[in-house]
Amino acid sequence: LKIAVLMGGPGSEREVSLASGRAVLKALLGEGIDAVEVDVKDADFELPEGVGLAFNVIHGTFGEDGQLQRVLERQGVPYTGAGSTSSGVAFDKNLAKARFVEAGVPTPASVVVDAVTGGLPDMELPYVVKAPCQGSSVGVHIVRTEDEARAALDDVSRYGAEALIEKFVEGRELTVAVLDDRPYPIVEIVAPDGVYDMSSKYPWLSGGEGSQYFCPAALDEATATRVQQAALAGHRSLGIEVYSRVDVLLDADGNPFVLEANTIPGMTETSLLPKSAAAAGIPFAELCVRIAEQSLE
Ligand code: DAL
Ligand code: MG
Repeated sequence: LKIAVLMGGPGSEREVSLASGRAVLKALLGEGIDAVEVDVKDADFELPEGVGLAFNVIHGTFGEDGQLQRVLERQGVPYTGAGSTSSGVAFDKNLAKARFVEAGVPTPASVVVDAVTGGLPDMELPYVVKAPCQGSSVGVHIVRTEDEARAALDDVSRYGAEALIEKFVEGRELTVAVLDDRPYPIVEIVAPDGVYDMSSKYPWLSGGEGSQYFCPAALDEATATRVQQAALAGHRSLGIEVYSRVDVLLDADGNPFVLEANTIPGMTETSLLPKSAAAAGIPFAELCVRIAEQSLE
């Protein structure tokens, strides 16, 4: 089976995707798999002859939102991970939020506002202003004053008219890998100044200070189970196939709040889903092979 590792993409997470893609390619080659790199710059990309599976590691716009998935479906090429429909829902934080609420998945209270013309949201500060269709914290702002809120809405309007406004949950930052319909060990993220943004996510890209990661997170068993069940419920409520990484906040009272499910999560060897798999005894290369195999099932 020849596997094309699709990486890069036209969106704001291109550099992160190239890093993920190269790690996956190296791992597959190391397993003796016939794998090739395909740097995707737009929808006109071409796959080499004889590709039997597209291993998609394109984060964000085009790769994670269902567009690439639809192109591959038209070409009749199987691909890894979530299908086009669930990708589209998971990548739009507003659509995903509605599903969480419908399914009873705990998630921070929110409203949607028009970032271009609307006034300030009817919500007590602090809150979080998010561009609904971005990843890697692009277009995410924690705001504590009305001036900050205006500046945040102005920034978010660059990406589109809608802004998601979420109640700020003070708490621990956790993430849960879901693979083959089961949750994996929880990763806790401790960012240098408490803000897990582009700079503390990818110090190799930004030159900033990196975050610390703990896996499995130090949680009592009952809390860990609550977090994992909330993550699994979030993943299921979006109809995601094969795998995702679900981001969860845990408040001081031990209540989990699901933020989102990432259908193309970071896949460098030190990324969070690989950390979680490693804690469950699955090395990176085996994780890549499992994702490929389960996607072909
Ligand atoms: N959007 C980044 C790549 C992640 O979720 O890991
Ligand atoms: Mg995301």
